[in-house]
Amino acid sequence: MTEKKTQPWWKSAVVYQIYPKSFQDSNGDGIGDIRGIISRLDYLADLGIDAVWISPVYCSPQDDNGYDISDYQDIDPMFGTLADMEELIAEAKKRNIRIIMDLVLNHTSDEHRWFLEAKKGRENPYHDYYVWKDGEEGRLPNDMKAAFGGPAWEWVPELKQYYFHQFSVKQPDLNWENPKVRREIYDMILWWMEKGVGGFRLDVIDQIAKEPDRGITSNGPRLHEFLREMSRETFQKGDLITVGEAWGANTDNAKLYSNPDGSEFSMVFQFEHMVMDQQPGKEKWDLAPLPFVKMKQCMAKWQNELYGTGWNSLFMDNHDLPRIVSRWGDDRKYRKESAKMLATILHGMQGTPYIYQGEELGMTNVKFENITHYRDIETLNLYRERLEKGYSREEVMRSIYAKSRDNARTPMQWNAEENAGFTAGTPWIEVNSNYVEINAEEEIHDPDSVFSYYRILTHLRKKYPVFIDGRFRLLMEEDSQIFAYTRTSQNEEMLVCANFTGEPAHCPLIGEWKDAQILIHNYEGGLSEEMKPYEAMMLIRKR
Ligand code: GLC
Ligand code: CA
Repeated sequence: MTEKKTQPWWKSAVVYQIYPKSFQDSNGDGIGDIRGIISRLDYLADLGIDAVWISPVYCSPQDDNGYDISDYQDIDPMFGTLADMEELIAEAKKRNIRIIMDLVLNHTSDEHRWFLEAKKGRENPYHDYYVWKDGEEGRLPNDMKAAFGGPAWEWVPELKQYYFHQFSVKQPDLNWENPKVRREIYDMILWWMEKGVGGFRLDVIDQIAKEPDRGITSNGPRLHEFLREMSRETFQKGDLITVGEAWGANTDNAKLYSNPDGSEFSMVFQFEHMVMDQQPGKEKWDLAPLPFVKMKQCMAKWQNELYGTGWNSLFMDNHDLPRIVSRWGDDRKYRKESAKMLATILHGMQGTPYIYQGEELGMTNVKFENITHYRDIETLNLYRERLEKGYSREEVMRSIYAKSRDNARTPMQWNAEENAGFTAGTPWIEVNSNYVEINAEEEIHDPDSVFSYYRILTHLRKKYPVFIDGRFRLLMEEDSQIFAYTRTSQNEEMLVCANFTGEPAHCPLIGEWKDAQILIHNYEGGLSEEMKPYEAMMLIRKR
């Protein structure tokens, strides 16, 4: 008898991302916290998710909302205590939910003990934990730029050296060439594994193997060597989901990252489809319409290339991206329809879907009138820089309304009460004023809500194996309105079909599939080849 090959659990899982600062406040200080998350676990279980990825809750001066860590092995008092974290892991487990920690390993905070030591002198044992360059004040080692604006080098007069930082000055880059750094990191990961976490999301992991002397940041020559070592020393000792954030991923290196032999990660977040609505070669702030046909081809490429050779993560939203319903849907007239349509397209694909908090409610972008209401370091730096460069205020605000990370960071909308039920105090960032109409309390009981639709999607994935192993094929590739594909496995065939626009669209496929069973459909009534605005469906039949 041949042994039945079992799939890793994360292949049929749906992951929910929590941005803790904005999820649920439990003590009235206006900041979301771990006890707040615990109080909402039943909501998450009801949605049908299997794991929760929590953006960083470690000790941090919060220069970049926790992505600047000053102690990897403790919880920031703002979010609670280590005991709260342990309770969260245990309470989640009772509901069959695993907790995924966010690991920021490319850099620490400049207030991390290692960096404080490193700055004490060139002979200090921690000095070599970071990336230094001798030099002269005012003469930068090279012209590399930091992601949040300004140069990537910062002068330390006591040492007469510059340190390298790919993000803010308060986020010095770790030196992965130093084996001691790697060992410290592995020990820390093992410590979290012992606490019973279900996995890790690895922040900007493609940037760890930098070689600033040669201008190399992402995809450095030793990257996959380091990742394999880390995986061997840590992840492979458990049954974890691991997902690397890799802006520089392509389908070739994604096959390494997500190699089915488990030598690196389970999967990566890649962003090819998420950077298409900007002017080529420019920044995300330089807006351009979405090239729909190209976007479809891009998604199809990832589906096909990784089939059997890797694994995709499926997402359109996270804490760094604007809200997808505002971005590619219509957040006014067809908010519900278009939010469901986008979910249909994404959840029908092969891979592990990620739902970002509020996406399941169809939460939208925010438009604060004044820049003083924004909190994100990237947004604030951009505003200053572009005004200095002579852009008009109006132009800059237009970019911010479309792309600011704060669009996704306004508080979770729980109910129609003050501050959307997020806090009894003053929220650290204002609530989106549409919470009166868009909120969880309203949606959980409404069978027609975006939430109810997501709940069906998470359950369908569990019920039909074709979601996990069906082979992908893009249909009507050149059509400028329809996004359609099939997933085909040994016994079943599924059609996912969506009108991506606010205009009616003609779709002959629906006639061909008229005898199939409807799994989900975002309009009432039967099917017709004349599709309504943002209409979407999944159909299934036996083969
Ligand atoms: C990642 C995070 C982002 C953070 C950056 C630096 O891209 O998702 O929020 O600012 O890394 O850590
Ligand atoms: Ca709080």
